Amino acid sequence: MYHDRYAARAFSMKESAVRALFAVANRPEVVSLAGGMPNIADLPLDIVGDAVRDMIQSAAGPRALQYGSGQGEQMLREQICEVMAEEGIRAHPDDVTVTVGSQQGLDLLTKIFCDPGDVILAEAPSYVGALSTFSSYQAEVVHVEMDDHGLVPERLREAVVTLAAQGKRVKFLYTIPNYSNPSGITQTLERRKAILEVAKETGLLIVEDNPYGLLDLEGGRLPAIRSMEHEQVIYLGSFSKTFSPGIRVGWVLAPHAVREKLVLAQEAATLSPPTFSQYVVSTYLRVHDWRQQITVFRDMYRERRDAMLAALPDYMPVGTTWTHPLGGFFVWLTLPEGIDSQAMLPRAVTNRVAYTPGTAFYADGLGARNIRLSYCYPTPERIREGVRRLGEVLNRESQLNRTFGVRHAGPHFGLAELNTPQPNQE
Ligand SMILES: Cc1ncc(COP(=O)(O)O)c(C=O)c1O
Repeated sequence: MYHDRYAARAFSMKESAVRALFAVANRPEVVSLAGGMPNIADLPLDIVGDAVRDMIQSAAGPRALQYGSGQGEQMLREQICEVMAEEGIRAHPDDVTVTVGSQQGLDLLTKIFCDPGDVILAEAPSYVGALSTFSSYQAEVVHVEMDDHGLVPERLREAVVTLAAQGKRVKFLYTIPNYSNPSGITQTLERRKAILEVAKETGLLIVEDNPYGLLDLEGGRLPAIRSMEHEQVIYLGSFSKTFSPGIRVGWVLAPHAVREKLVLAQEAATLSPPTFSQYVVSTYLRVHDWRQQITVFRDMYRERRDAMLAALPDYMPVGTTWTHPLGGFFVWLTLPEGIDSQAMLPRAVTNRVAYTPGTAFYADGLGARNIRLSYCYPTPERIREGVRRLGEVLNRESQLNRTFGVRHAGPHFGLAELNTPQPNQE
């Protein structure tokens, strides 16, 4: 009854192949290195609670509970400019549009720029949520190679030239220069400049997604691409990783003309982004030392990252390599030849550890030999135990591959088996 009525774009919205498994992975005995949930345990809930109560009981209360501006509240947009200044960005509050998380920023940008079949260039691997948004608007994603220093500018130039020769319409480049989700890789300053150079030469628009920028774990924060160029860069920010993901407040900083379209798209989508959430964020930024709070978060994430980087050499089989993130939440593993991370996931969950298979982060089916591990949520002890369990599974797979000398899919464990309690459950 419904199927024949769906718009074509509804058919490009697909459930992730591993979603069902993640329901099982959320069981307490499984160490989940899969999700990217920020760890907000260190947030001072008493301070936040008191501030929100005071705000609601003050003159601001009725405004916080009312419809607001389609662009977002002026007061918060001014504070957002202060937050961006931490990464070298000088911006005017008029050029900021508040969104429901940066995820909605991605959605609105794709909506205003992309017709079906238009091309978005995206570094490979790329954030899975962005890939879903792009595909929901039937945009075609063309990946551009990345190495340990980030997106490779020469490959970017080649892609733009080749696609133009094919008559394709490239709408923008999507990139995560800081501590990329999923790879954990940071674009060097030289790369940022070179990518910008290519963009200028070829008239390419850059969408810079930067939710993790303030979560540097080694110091030496690099300037945002937007801090070097105003007209050709659209910048996405978020309070999800530095305050609260549940508040759902992010923003887009865009050149004036784009900002006008964004506000129209925002009004069509929500009338106004949630006023209450914006007042909560604004109050939090006003009453709390948010810079110090970010330092607390950084110390906590650094300890977890270090726990993961210390455990990996102890447990991973020969031939496994991984990135060394300077910030953010993620380590990206490349597995020994012949191991398929998606096929292996049920066996890993049976061994009470979960991860995200690399295929989730490519639009073109690559990534079977990769795994994204996140260190943001479990304690350092659980991280080490999770890596140990992953090592067991990988060593078993490697052993099978060595024995049989072929790609070995291994025994199949269905979800029913995964639901069966395992011995020695924690
Ligand atoms: C790279 C990247 N962009 C955007 C988002 C969306 O974040 P939010 O909508 O919570 O701001 C995420 C969330 O994990 C992310 O990793």
